[in-house]
Amino acid sequence: MYQDRIRNALLMSKIVTAEEAASLIKDGMVVGMSGFTRAGDAKAVPMAMVKHAKSKPFKIFLITGASLGHDLDRLLCEAGITDRRMPFQVDKTLRKAINQGTVKFIDQHLSHTVEQLRSRQLPDIDYAIIEAIALTEDGFIIPTTSVGNSASLAMLADKVIVEINLSVRLTLEGLHDIYIPGKRPNRNPIPIMSPDSRIGSSFIPVLPEKIVAIVINDLPDHPSAVSQPDTETSAITEHLIAFFQEEVKARRLPISLNPIQVGIGAVANAVVSGLQKSPFKELTMYSEVLQDSTFDLIDVGKMDFASGCSIILSKEYGKRIWSNFESYKDKLILRPQEISNHPEVIRRLGVIAINTALEFDIYGNVNSTHVNGTHMMNGIGGSGDFTRNAYLSIFISKAVVKNGAISSIVPMVSHVDHTEHDVSILVTDIGLADLRGLAPRERAPIIIKNCVHPSCREKLLDYFERACHKVGGQTPHLLEEAYAWHIKAMNEGSMH
Ligand code: COA
Repeated sequence: MYQDRIRNALLMSKIVTAEEAASLIKDGMVVGMSGFTRAGDAKAVPMAMVKHAKSKPFKIFLITGASLGHDLDRLLCEAGITDRRMPFQVDKTLRKAINQGTVKFIDQHLSHTVEQLRSRQLPDIDYAIIEAIALTEDGFIIPTTSVGNSASLAMLADKVIVEINLSVRLTLEGLHDIYIPGKRPNRNPIPIMSPDSRIGSSFIPVLPEKIVAIVINDLPDHPSAVSQPDTETSAITEHLIAFFQEEVKARRLPISLNPIQVGIGAVANAVVSGLQKSPFKELTMYSEVLQDSTFDLIDVGKMDFASGCSIILSKEYGKRIWSNFESYKDKLILRPQEISNHPEVIRRLGVIAINTALEFDIYGNVNSTHVNGTHMMNGIGGSGDFTRNAYLSIFISKAVVKNGAISSIVPMVSHVDHTEHDVSILVTDIGLADLRGLAPRERAPIIIKNCVHPSCREKLLDYFERACHKVGGQTPHLLEEAYAWHIKAMNEGSMH
């Protein structure tokens, strides 16, 4: 039943099989695909591309919103299709290929990609493959569970392939708010005054003649994996809630807090879940990904509105939320990721940014991406977009990982994604360090005392004291020792 989803009669003749659409993609092309953290990804055509590559190998430069579901990044990588990839991924096989140097990965702030495409600082896109709920009478695209970079990818591409996904209910129509910033240097301000501001259209305006193929598909999004809060993530949440309570008491935040952004991953999701039991009310979100925990907050009446660029749910939540979506729709909006992550808006709204660090150092520099300074984990994602511009820039992490073998707090981070200048609060299961207004030499003892696991505390304090004594400076370090912890971890799997 797709007749009510293709509302432009001329486009009906463009329906083809996924295989036919996939055969349009040729070696060396730049391909933009919908998809953001497994939500709203084009599915049938990339899967058909994988089949095609078996008989006729080809390589592409693949640009998406963020990560893809259905193991697509793995399948495309194993098929040898992915030559160059941006701006984010979370797949183990692709990660391995990136770290072996066989796939070139451009790890980029998520708000930057389409700005660079639009100003032709990146190669032109040959094809955009975009998942849609429906095509309007004018042939415009109504996206599904994510907007991500889909709008600009479709508008900038030479040709567009649309996947109509019948598994996504038509009730999602009206959820999206597509706004594309004007040309620089005389661009108008983005008129978002609060997370619920609607400033654009509910569809992606593309010239219907650019749509060269339409594929009908009914594969649902890959559900997110649920990870229950554990002792450490619960402790992080408690420290964070106590901190927010102090901020409210000191009148630096209202009882509704400021709009919240929360990053990806198990730790971040657990923190949002924890807000259910907090004293705060009328919360809002100005974030990227809306996950199960966002709906928990709406369900218990704690959250009034959530703005994001994708919705990804676990299997259990998906069943419940999508079948009852009408009751959530007026509390949600999905925007292009350059708008959800826009520095101008984040600064104006005073967003509280909560992201997860792989590791941070005694002065507050944060590494979100590179294990031991060399090996890519996932990518910076939107963490930099938010951190640099937030009202409060918070990083959370378990104090130790890998059964205590690795300390998340190190003398000097082995790769810097967020500098000490951008980071205001650090939280681990041990405690919270408030770095606001503190010089590096004041920060270190507080971070060590409040955040570091007892098994590493003395060693780190000893490093700091010797660095102050022997070398001094604004930010004392013993350069010959600064990476000794990482070298040990690399060689022996443990920092101890
Ligand atoms: N050294 C080596 N490995 C580390 C590590 C360290 N310092 N810290 C964490 N890890 C490992 C964990 O052991 C775990 O490994 P496993 O998958 O083999 O179990 C993995 O990294 C994930 O860590 P976990 O503690 O489960 O946290 P998470 O799921 O919350 O992910 C990040 C943490 C940092 C990887 C993730 O948040 C991320 O990719 N962040 C960057 C992008 C971002 O912040 N986006 C947000 C904007 S929306």
